[in-house]
Amino acid sequence: MLLEGIDEEEALEHITRTARDVAGADTAALALPGLAGELLIELADGHDADKLLGQVMPEGGRAWTVMKEGKGLMTPSLSASRTVTLAAMRAFGPAMFAPLQTSGRGVGVLILLRRVASLPFDEGDLVTAESFASQAALAYVLAEARHAQDVAALLDERERIARDLHDLAIQQLFATGMQLETVRRRSARGVDAHELTAIVEEALDNVDESVRQIRHIVHELRDPDAATGLVERLRREASLARTGLGFAPSLVISLEGAMLGADDVEAEDLLDERLDAQLTDDVVAVVREGLANAARHAHASSVTVSVSVRGSGPQGTVLVEVQDDGIGMPTRRDRTSGTGNLAARARQHAGTFSLSTPPDGRGTLLTWQAPLP
Ligand SMILES: Nc1ncnc2c1ncn2[C@@H]1O[C@H](COP(=O)(O)OP(=O)(O)OP(=O)(O)O)[C@@H](O)[C@H]1O
Ligand SMILES: [Mg+2]
Repeated sequence: MLLEGIDEEEALEHITRTARDVAGADTAALALPGLAGELLIELADGHDADKLLGQVMPEGGRAWTVMKEGKGLMTPSLSASRTVTLAAMRAFGPAMFAPLQTSGRGVGVLILLRRVASLPFDEGDLVTAESFASQAALAYVLAEARHAQDVAALLDERERIARDLHDLAIQQLFATGMQLETVRRRSARGVDAHELTAIVEEALDNVDESVRQIRHIVHELRDPDAATGLVERLRREASLARTGLGFAPSLVISLEGAMLGADDVEAEDLLDERLDAQLTDDVVAVVREGLANAARHAHASSVTVSVSVRGSGPQGTVLVEVQDDGIGMPTRRDRTSGTGNLAARARQHAGTFSLSTPPDGRGTLLTWQAPLP
């Protein structure tokens, strides 16, 4: 087939050029619908092609009629016709208009032109033009479909950025805000300056961390393959969460059921090999939201984060659990955006997410699980 293996836009150019050669035309042009529903010349090849490019076909004119009615049309001379209003078109003599159609829908018009005073086109030429136009229609439809796919991918990406901003950067800034709030309250009570300075310093560290995270998100937008190891990132999360919780959470990371030691670089590399960048980001975001929720809602005195990876490939899984010993989930939830994001992140991997009561009956257990890529 004509289109196989080439990019659709190139295919359209190729079809236009070949149609011109085969039909013995001086110029070939392709009129396609523009954004505002107008019909304009998007491709032109041959004599005076540059004058035709970008020309908008007048409504009620030949191009429109051909596109709407789906039937080709020949004219012995555009320059001699009184109904041609576009100067760029009146500069030509014989013309043929062939419709681009797919399943009865007109998607454009192939226009073949000869110079003034040339021999007119004949019925055989029109048949040729129509067959080229139907190839062009196919290429156009493929291009349209690819564009729709690109738009869908773009929307997905936007959603992911929104989630990353919410789960990563915003939670961090929220914690910083709480610290500054504490400083304000305590300074109003005339608390010792040393104590306040310590909190402000911690808040400043958090602001630095937020900047780092936003940079990271921006950097990832430019270079999606960039990544720090999972274990390192989880340790940072745990350490950052101390401020909000008022104590250090425990962090247990395991591979095939064996707990990772403090500096087990080999095992850390193994983990990174089993998760890809997207899944790593999601695991980190889940841990962060779990810790943020424990800090903000649970009134807990201890929190344990466990991340365990078993197997590899789609048969393998990563399981994240964040368990606190706080007040437990309320019967009615006013907000759900953080947990909604976690559910969305799970769905994207065909994984699962749940909030439940831990086996000992106290607090909250967040469970998030996804198959490995
Ligand atoms: N560990 C927890 N202990 C007690 N309640 C919790 C816990 N985690 C979540 N909740 C409750 O569930 C609600 C929904 O949590 P969710 O994370 O969706 O929203 P949020 O934390 O209030 O706001 P955000 O959109 O900033 O995350 C919370 O408002 C809180 O009432
Ligand atoms: Mg939350």
